[in-house]
Amino acid sequence: MQHHVEPLFQGSKIQEELVKLSSKLNSVYKESTEPVILVAVLKGSFIFLADLCRLLTFPVQIDFLGASSYGNSTESSGALKITKDLAFDIQNKNVLLVEDIVDTGVTLTKVCAMLRERGLKDLKVVTLLDKPSKRKVDFQPDYSCFAIEDFFIVGYGIDYAENYRELPYIGILQANTGEK
Ligand code: IMP
Ligand code: MG
Repeated sequence: MQHHVEPLFQGSKIQEELVKLSSKLNSVYKESTEPVILVAVLKGSFIFLADLCRLLTFPVQIDFLGASSYGNSTESSGALKITKDLAFDIQNKNVLLVEDIVDTGVTLTKVCAMLRERGLKDLKVVTLLDKPSKRKVDFQPDYSCFAIEDFFIVGYGIDYAENYRELPYIGILQANTGEK
């Protein structure tokens, strides 16, 4: 099927929200003496992480977790697959999980439970996008940049079947109907 991408948030709008978000985080973690572990959930959050971490004024260390509950489809399958585990031991660490989108909430509920079992000190979740109307489980991110309706999003790191991650803006993936 042919698709096109309708821009929703331009790069400049995203940067504005990141400045607001980072100033909140900078005050929350102001007193932290040891590095906060930023755990980016691959692959969708890699650009969000890169932009966000450069606005943080407290010490951080960065790790990646490969987790996916989506195949090459636009509907969540619900099954969590860990495709890449953390390199760090997070026992007694302050962890800030960096996610692209919270949709049904299933992925992060499972990811958070798994991380908590490792005995971390504190876990908070920051997401670029939140689709609260799509929740299937009771899950609340601690911080989010944009709350959106039930759109299928691509760009700024986020994919559809591995495509569109490179777009510098956040857009809505739309099927071409053939009408012009
Ligand atoms: P959840 O388990 O339904 O909350 O799924 C969250 C994960 O599904 C996100 O981290 C994304 O990787 C993916 N996902 C959810 N909505 C979208 C979307 O609109 N576009 C692309 N990926 C999405
Ligand atoms: Mg994700």
